Amino acid sequence: MTTAKEGEQLTRVGPGTAMGELMRCYWIPALMSSELVSGAPPIRLMLLGEKLIAFRDDQGRVGVMDHRCPHRCASLFLGRNEGAGLRCIYHGWKFDVAGNCLDMPSVPPPDFKQKVKARAYTVTERAGLIWVHMGARSDSPPLPAFEILDLPEHEIRVAFIQRECNYLQALEGEIDTSHFGFLHAGHVDVEDLAEDEPLRYTVTDRAPRYHLSDTPWGTQYAGYRPAGRDSTYWRFANFLFPFWTQVPNGEFASHIHARAWVPLDDGHTMFVFLWWKRGVSAMSLPQPTFRDGTAIGGTGRSSKFLPNTSDWLGRFRLEANPGNDWKVDRAAQQDGTIYSGIEGIHLQDQAITESMGSIVDREFEHLAPSDQMITRTRRRLLMAARALRDQGVAPPGALDASVYRDARSGYFVSDDLSDWQEIYAKQLAAGVHPSPGTLNAAE
Ligand code: FES
Ligand SMILES: [Fe+2]
Repeated sequence: MTTAKEGEQLTRVGPGTAMGELMRCYWIPALMSSELVSGAPPIRLMLLGEKLIAFRDDQGRVGVMDHRCPHRCASLFLGRNEGAGLRCIYHGWKFDVAGNCLDMPSVPPPDFKQKVKARAYTVTERAGLIWVHMGARSDSPPLPAFEILDLPEHEIRVAFIQRECNYLQALEGEIDTSHFGFLHAGHVDVEDLAEDEPLRYTVTDRAPRYHLSDTPWGTQYAGYRPAGRDSTYWRFANFLFPFWTQVPNGEFASHIHARAWVPLDDGHTMFVFLWWKRGVSAMSLPQPTFRDGTAIGGTGRSSKFLPNTSDWLGRFRLEANPGNDWKVDRAAQQDGTIYSGIEGIHLQDQAITESMGSIVDREFEHLAPSDQMITRTRRRLLMAARALRDQGVAPPGALDASVYRDARSGYFVSDDLSDWQEIYAKQLAAGVHPSPGTLNAAE
């Protein structure tokens, strides 16, 4: 059981909290590079409960800083992006992307601009994303050694979707595999599926068994079910420090991806999804169908967005949200067209985790043996946050990014009877490992 105190430590991400300090040891994928245009007005960015602004100067450099001007705290959101920096419109002080004060025109000489700094964070760009390190400027960590980050930008796809709940709640939805046969596929009858439809195994056995273990990058589970007489259908998935997941919605051999659940504040999360465009997964395969070729209800892939606004939490919000009950279709729920009545697998997960409220009261839960991955992941996060707070121990991956290297998720059918971790190692070795060199040669 998770106590109220543990729940609090796990979920609060503001400055000075145990988990907030853990998150500040890592690079955080915060924006799409395309959101910031050279010379354009700054945008508001909420991250780990801090109100920030982001802008790109005329040389293409990105600044991410506290939105308050260090003079009298006017919001730099209203600032003018002028050449090599951002000028506060109140008294005209100007700051570069590193927070240095370039100009103090309202102060008669001699001014003291070398003594004033805006609170700016370290920023880097990779894979079409702007990454922010919110810890001390002097000790920027390495970027995680995900395989997806080795690929050239044109091989990577990126999506952002905001979720209206705490990051851990959203993340736990990803490592809760036993919901799949209900929330997403409760209306699917095995008789109606083609022989080669992977969903077959899920709906034949809706209570899979698991192996699970701590790993260098966090935690891993393998759900397994019989697949015919001598084979097993395996689904591997990972939690990776501090807020990443890899899910089994693609073929293990080529499912190169990473999914971040970035805390905007305690009650809002940005889902940041990077995937290899040539991998075989839910993003590249057509919508699943029944044997007769009709689409399986509720498995649509498109997400409808509200227009972005300039609010702190105004980016990448879905049209279906708690305010309209996620557009649940009760008729579809009742007649068995869509088990949940909610269209789209992502939206189903979104609705469920948002329906729990902003932050779950974990003392109210009754966890089952099928929730072991969730329990283990909470413990791993909590132990790491406390070790950092109490002994100054760097959490996994914060200093040594290579811990992420061998993390892969996905499904496969195998007749190998080895130990589950050996099977994993063999599948990983046999999988596709594109490198920028091989990709360029193939084109
Ligand atoms: S408050 Fe920004 S220049 Fe005065
Ligand atoms: Fe799901």
